[in-house]
Amino acid sequence: MARVFVTHEIAGEALGRLRAAHDVKVWPGELQPSAEELRAAVADVEGLLCMLTDTIDLSLIAAAPRLRAIANYAVGFDNIDLASARARGIAVGNTPDVLTDATADLAFALLLASARRLVEAERAVRNGAWQTWEPTRWNGASVYGATLGIVGFGRIGQAVARRAEGFAMTVLATPATPLDELLERSDFVSLHCPLTEQTWHLIDETALRRMKPSAIIINTARGAIIDQQALAAALRDHAIAGAALDVTDPEPPPHDDPLFDAPNVTLLPHIGSATHSARSQMTELAVANLLAGLDGQPMPHPAT
Ligand code: DGY
Repeated sequence: MARVFVTHEIAGEALGRLRAAHDVKVWPGELQPSAEELRAAVADVEGLLCMLTDTIDLSLIAAAPRLRAIANYAVGFDNIDLASARARGIAVGNTPDVLTDATADLAFALLLASARRLVEAERAVRNGAWQTWEPTRWNGASVYGATLGIVGFGRIGQAVARRAEGFAMTVLATPATPLDELLERSDFVSLHCPLTEQTWHLIDETALRRMKPSAIIINTARGAIIDQQALAAALRDHAIAGAALDVTDPEPPPHDDPLFDAPNVTLLPHIGSATHSARSQMTELAVANLLAGLDGQPMPHPAT
């Protein structure tokens, strides 16, 4: 029986299987443990089930001399220093596939909401600003038949492309279409690449200024893929028409973040995978990874 630390309460039945096999402690706080609290919590554990909000860097790994298996409760694993984990022989797993459709649905929901100004319009109904049917006030962008640029054509990018078929959209995707061309031609740009050293601030001022002034950018991947200061400036200057973001850098954005004052921004609290089914399947995969890793077996979903 190994000691396991789980950094947040999680949905689904599978945690029971982990508890049956190992000595499991779940962090009781609503917020994630601080770096110090996490270091203290992992001092004597062999297994760690962590969230994308937990930074698993060299110092954390050094603070956990017995750690053998890490299961990230996310498909993205930019929060984990994979090289340092590998160097220590620690197995690392993630939760691919099970959140693909949930995330693609949300990307499309954001695309539609931003194109048709749903958040703004709904607010006007609630606060009494809506007084009559108006021929010009709430006009937005057409989605049907528009061009969608998908940056990162992995599982989620491809799932978004399948949804776009129903809207008769022309789909461009990297790497088949070079990024510059995709940015110049697209009415909507949706980001689906992982956050790496190469994609950090991939969408910077130059990239944003390549987009059409009528274009909308959607991000359900990781906040730091966009240079947020440059995005706020591009929106203020009307260099692009809107942004719909499920992810920001940091999360949540501080209340003085320039995005809050920029026009036509829709912001969500990182809910791409937040369906009952996706979240409970993520628990299944994370637990399966941890059980295998602690058993000295290859994880079914290794982070690669
Ligand atoms: C992931 O799994 O990487 C997602 O961002 C969680 O919603």
